[in-house]
Amino acid sequence: MNKEELEKIKEKALEEHIPIIMDDTLKVMEKYLKEIKPKRILEIGTAVGYSAMCFTLFLEEGGKIDTIERESDRVKQARENIKKVGVEEKINIYEGDALEILPTLEEKYDAVFIDAAKGKYPFFLEQALRLINKNGIIFADNILYKGYVMSDYNKHKQRTAVRNLREYIKEVNENPDLDTEILEVRRWLSSKQNKIMWKWGCGSGDRHYVDIFVNVVPVPTSTKMST
Ligand SMILES: C[S@@+](CC[C@H](N)C(=O)[O-])C[C@H]1O[C@@H](n2cnc3c(N)ncnc32)[C@H](O)[C@@H]1O
Repeated sequence: MNKEELEKIKEKALEEHIPIIMDDTLKVMEKYLKEIKPKRILEIGTAVGYSAMCFTLFLEEGGKIDTIERESDRVKQARENIKKVGVEEKINIYEGDALEILPTLEEKYDAVFIDAAKGKYPFFLEQALRLINKNGIIFADNILYKGYVMSDYNKHKQRTAVRNLREYIKEVNENPDLDTEILEVRRWLSSKQNKIMWKWGCGSGDRHYVDIFVNVVPVPTSTKMST
């Protein structure tokens, strides 16, 4: 893997305000992925391929990642990036809407990373549970949606996403087959990212930070779900 290229791709994505996984979220996931050594990973939400390329480092020998992206410009960019980094044999991109692609998948995965439209998390979870292997892990990024999920008042455009994220959280907490952890990954931003967040209007004063939440759902051996 060409790590220099990967770093350049990350910097470019940040400059262009393309939402990619944060270093600290990746670190949390790394801990789990190193433990389970996945052979197959499914990602919902490729963007420019950054997280998928990072995950290749944790694959078991001969392992592969399937990742889904609906925006064709991003798919094109991701394909170019993956080639530059030299991991094209480890990543397969499905171009299209995950709502249509997921139901067509039949293979089982050791890890699923949900990182696409927040309003669709309950559907993504349902599909992830259908596709996950026993003892697999489902990660979902940003499930508290910058804290909107805990707020009583949300802007109209966030309401559906907030309602569906609450439904997602209820399901992962109440489903007896799942062992759920909600992890808070909080980080202070570098000055460069700080500027970007400021542009987005996410900070105030001279200290800015962002909360990212990763939800981990290992499926215990006693699961009733079949593989
Ligand atoms: C947060 S970005 C993914 C970032 C990427 N996982 C990373 O960390 O490098 C979310 C991506 O999901 C895509 N997306 C959102 N809803 C989708 C859907 N229903 N089907 C496929 N892709 C979707 C968006 O176009 C966007 O590129």
